[in-house]
Amino acid sequence: MSEQRAEKRPNVRIAKPYNDEAIERSVLSILRSGMLVQGAKVEEFEAQLSKYIGCRYVIAVNSGTAALQLAIDSVSRSKQGGEIITSPLSFAATANAALGCGLTPVFADVDPETFNIDPDNVNEKVNDKTVAIEPVDVYGLPADLGKLGQIAKRHKLAVVEDAAEAIGASYNDKKIGNVSDLSCFSTYATKNLHTGEGGFVTTNDDQKAEHIRMGRSQGQSSRYNQKILGYNFRMMEICAAIGLEQLKVLDNLNTRRRTNAAALADGLEDLECLSFQRVDDPETHAWYMFAVTVDEEGAGMTRDKLVQRIREQGVDADVSWPTPIHLQPYFRERFGFKEGEYPIAEAVCKTVFQLPVQPFLTDEEVQRIISTVKQILKN
Ligand SMILES: Cc1ncc(COP(=O)(O)O)c(C=O)c1O
Repeated sequence: MSEQRAEKRPNVRIAKPYNDEAIERSVLSILRSGMLVQGAKVEEFEAQLSKYIGCRYVIAVNSGTAALQLAIDSVSRSKQGGEIITSPLSFAATANAALGCGLTPVFADVDPETFNIDPDNVNEKVNDKTVAIEPVDVYGLPADLGKLGQIAKRHKLAVVEDAAEAIGASYNDKKIGNVSDLSCFSTYATKNLHTGEGGFVTTNDDQKAEHIRMGRSQGQSSRYNQKILGYNFRMMEICAAIGLEQLKVLDNLNTRRRTNAAALADGLEDLECLSFQRVDDPETHAWYMFAVTVDEEGAGMTRDKLVQRIREQGVDADVSWPTPIHLQPYFRERFGFKEGEYPIAEAVCKTVFQLPVQPFLTDEEVQRIISTVKQILKN
């Protein structure tokens, strides 16, 4: 088939936000009710999430970034000048939230196969200023939370997990959100469970939950009674309604992601120039992204060229993240980071890309992804 004809087919999309008739009905009834922000639907969303995850408290907010900022603030109050150890292989929000709380992000390099933060490297970075460890569940794969938890316990540090991409994932038979001291999720439009924009924090700690609840609404413990520094991080009712309906089908959607991931891994296995994110137990991964690294020499082309050629064939391959956080212009300028300081994260960012794995792909689309990549790399 000519490339021109292939281009006319609809794109195989990397993300497709969930919608159904129940959501549309619910959103309309909220709009008609006139009660638009942080009311009964948000409360119900929090209650259902806490049941699903198995944790005591869920505090819904208006972004994953807000969730991170409030969670970090709850463990770092009055510790201005403190440090938080986190991954350079993440989205800017991971480090920005810490900076917003007056903490300095200190990076630890990642594991070359799982792309998650390396606990041994974390251990080396702990010092008197360290307040918390902030691992990221990269692409939905839980970080090594057992080892990180032990390091935290030994040094009396909190673990604030950036679980933005990991709803439905698990670690040692516990749902993510019920493992670390605090876990922060994003429900942005592309996520496994979305609310358009949104996010939430989970914890089993009464005081931290109360701090976060106040922090999302100007630091108030009750109306016009401000106890701590706070913000407007409240969730809208229509967002909670969108999330509530999806929660009912989340496990089915994640199962479909797992099936798609297995088919992709199977179909692309014989391409020696590609490696996949190492996943010891696929059932524990939320499969927000299906991540592949390319050996450019073996492929005979750069990662960017490969992604471009896949996209030209109508498959929405993507690159996240092309630049590790420490090499972002702002971080270079403010902290003086240079290339070579976190060599593994840097190498992953240069060679990684993602293929669609979302739950609405048809079997034919999954096969189309495989044949597209194979055709490009075998020619
Ligand atoms: C790893 C990670 N951390 C934090 C965030 C921030 O979430 P939000 O965009 O909802 O603020 C995201 C969202 O894309 C993310 O992927």
